[in-house]
Amino acid sequence: MREAIDTSIRPVAHHVARPLRLARSTIKLRRLKARFRRLHRKYRNYTMTPEGTYVNVLSLVFSRRHVAGCVAECGVWRGGVIAGIAELLGSERHYFLFDSFEGLPAAEEIDGPALLAWQKAVESPNYHNNCTASQVEADAAMRMSKVASYSVVKGWFDETLPRFTPPCPIAILRLDGDLYSSMRTCLINLWPYLAPDGVVIIDDYNVWDGCARAVHEFLADESKRGQVPRLSQYENDVYMVTR
Ligand SMILES: C[S@@+](CC[C@H](N)C(=O)[O-])C[C@H]1O[C@@H](n2cnc3c(N)ncnc32)[C@H](O)[C@@H]1O
Repeated sequence: MREAIDTSIRPVAHHVARPLRLARSTIKLRRLKARFRRLHRKYRNYTMTPEGTYVNVLSLVFSRRHVAGCVAECGVWRGGVIAGIAELLGSERHYFLFDSFEGLPAAEEIDGPALLAWQKAVESPNYHNNCTASQVEADAAMRMSKVASYSVVKGWFDETLPRFTPPCPIAILRLDGDLYSSMRTCLINLWPYLAPDGVVIIDDYNVWDGCARAVHEFLADESKRGQVPRLSQYENDVYMVTR
């Protein structure tokens, strides 16, 4: 009798358990995305990253939360993205904020026609005073995250980054410097410190030619040296480089 019950129940149980597991993971994902959207609402005055991208960046960060190490963002503007990341990952880590707080350097031919045109369109609502923010604003965003352990490194990347040695491997590195020269400087100087399972989140890969060029050149140079880093699309406009 017991044998008969077991065999009749097992296939039914199997068919029910899988959709249930799927439903639970869908609910969990929806809750997480709602949480990330709330973080975007909290920091929206401190970031120019749109909600969809912000949510995707936080999803990627969340998926790497097991990686030990510090977090860095190059090109923080008012600090709204790194503050959201800090609120998500918590106080056990140190956060580094790199920015000139003087906006972008002048774009060059290698940055491509779109960025050259953007930098000339000073009246455009997307110009944001050439992406200029103040350190006071970035500090305010970080204070809102309630994370105590962070450092602001003010200055041009080609001056600050070669002198920078992080106290621990970098688990999450977000690069949002827009220009070819800025992206290249960040990749060359910070890649050696990336934790083995860490991730470099690339903003604007699909937006600015210079950003894509810097990434491609970096990948080619590293590949020649022996390591073969991988560029992949995480979701929509969020790209990443991993070891
Ligand atoms: C597009 S904004 C960053 C937006 C911000 N991450 C966000 O999501 O709201 C680009 C930032 O990079 C900084 N930046 C670009 N190139 C730089 C360089 N070479 N040195 C220092 N800061 C730079 C600018 O000052 C600006 O704050």
